[in-house]
Amino acid sequence: MKPTTRPAKPHFSSGPCAKFPGWTVNSLADACVGRSHRAKDGKAKLSQVIDLSRKILGIPADYRIGIVPASDTGAFEMAMWSLLGPRPVDVLAWESFGAGWVTDIVKELKLKDVKTLKADYGKIADLAATDPSHDIVFTWNGTTSGVRVPNGDWIKQDRQGLTLCDATSAVFAMDIPWDKLDVVTWSWQKVLGGEAQHGILVLSPRAVERIIGYNPPWPMPKLFRMKAGPDKLAEGIFKGDTINTPSMIAVEDQIAALEWAQKSGGLKGLIARSEANLATIADWVARTPWVGFLAENPAIRSCTSVCLKITAPWVAKLDAEQQAAVPKKIVALLEKEGVAFDIDGYRDAPPGLRIWAGATVEKADLEALFPWLDWAFAQAEAEFAKAA
Ligand SMILES: Cc1ncc(COP(=O)(O)O)c(C=O)c1O
Repeated sequence: MKPTTRPAKPHFSSGPCAKFPGWTVNSLADACVGRSHRAKDGKAKLSQVIDLSRKILGIPADYRIGIVPASDTGAFEMAMWSLLGPRPVDVLAWESFGAGWVTDIVKELKLKDVKTLKADYGKIADLAATDPSHDIVFTWNGTTSGVRVPNGDWIKQDRQGLTLCDATSAVFAMDIPWDKLDVVTWSWQKVLGGEAQHGILVLSPRAVERIIGYNPPWPMPKLFRMKAGPDKLAEGIFKGDTINTPSMIAVEDQIAALEWAQKSGGLKGLIARSEANLATIADWVARTPWVGFLAENPAIRSCTSVCLKITAPWVAKLDAEQQAAVPKKIVALLEKEGVAFDIDGYRDAPPGLRIWAGATVEKADLEALFPWLDWAFAQAEAEFAKAA
C-alpha cells in the first residue's frame, strides 16, 4: 500500500544538503549585497563566519581559519600544493574523494615517496599502518561509502609529519580532535546546508610553520597562494581578506546556518541530531529484510552520509547492470512522488541508496521516508518479477 504521510522536507541529498529547519529566503535579508567585500561591513561578515565557526567547533585560538576559493576541493588542493613535498606522504583512501587525493598526490604533484593505504567501499584503510614521521592525508568521513574514521586515537600527539584532513562531511556532525590535525577543510553546503561557494581551511601552528619555511618546487596559482613573500604567511586570508571575491549571499547564508547551529545546542546538539538520525536509520535497517549498511562495522559507520546496499536474494541473482537498476528504480519512484530527492548511491560507489542524516535533517522526515522506501522496493520487485 502506498504510504500517505510524506516527509515535510524531501531533501536527503549528500550535498548540497538540506537547509536548516526554519530556513527561508528571508534568512538572507541582511546580506551585504552590492557592496565591496573589502569594505568594513563586508569584511565584518566574513570575520563573523570565521569567529562563529571557531566558537561552535571549539577550534583552538592559535589555529588559523581562512575562507578560501572553490569549496572543499579548493581548500584541500590549496593545502596539498602548499604543504606536501618535504616529507614522505601516507595517503588513505576508502572511497572516491580519498581516491581523488591519491591521484593528485601521485599524478599531479608527482611526489615519489608516497604510501597509499586503500580499502574497498564499506571498509576502512589500515589506520595503524600510518607513520607519524610522514605527512598523513585522509578524509574523515568518506561521503560516497558512508565510512568514517572512528576517532583520532591512531594519530600521534608527538608526530613529526603533518596531518591533512578533508572533513567536509564530518565537521558539525562528528567530534574532531583539533590537536591531532594540522589541516582541516570543509565546504559550506554540507552539514550546515549552506550555499556552496568558498571553502574553509583551518591550519595548526605547525602547518603555518611549514608554509613559512617551505617553497614548493612547482608553480603556485594565485588561487592557492597563502604566502605574502618567500617566508611570510598572507595573514589577511585568515582575517576575512579573501583571495578573490566571495558571494555575500553565500556568506550571509553561512552566518544564518551558524546562528541556527548555536541555537540548536552548538556542536553537542548538532552531533546528537546526526547520531539520532543514524540510530533511526539503523532501527529501520534492522527490521527491514531487503536492506543493509554498506559499512558493516558500526564503529566506522557515518552519521551523515548513510550508505545502504540492497541485500534481497532476488537482487543478488541479477547481473551487475540490473542490480544497479534496482536502486535507480526506487530513487526514480520516490522522486516522482516528491518524497525523497537525490538518494541514489554515488556514481563510483557500489549500487545502493545514500541518505543524508546530518544535523539539518529532521528525524521525523526520515521516519516518514521509511514506509516509502519499503513501498518503492516492493514496486521495483514486482516490476522485475514481471519482466523476468
Ligand atoms: C569527502 C569529500 N571531499 C571533497 C568533496 C568535494 O567538495 P566540494 O564540492 O565542496 O569541493 C566532497 C563533496 O561531496 C566530499 O564529500
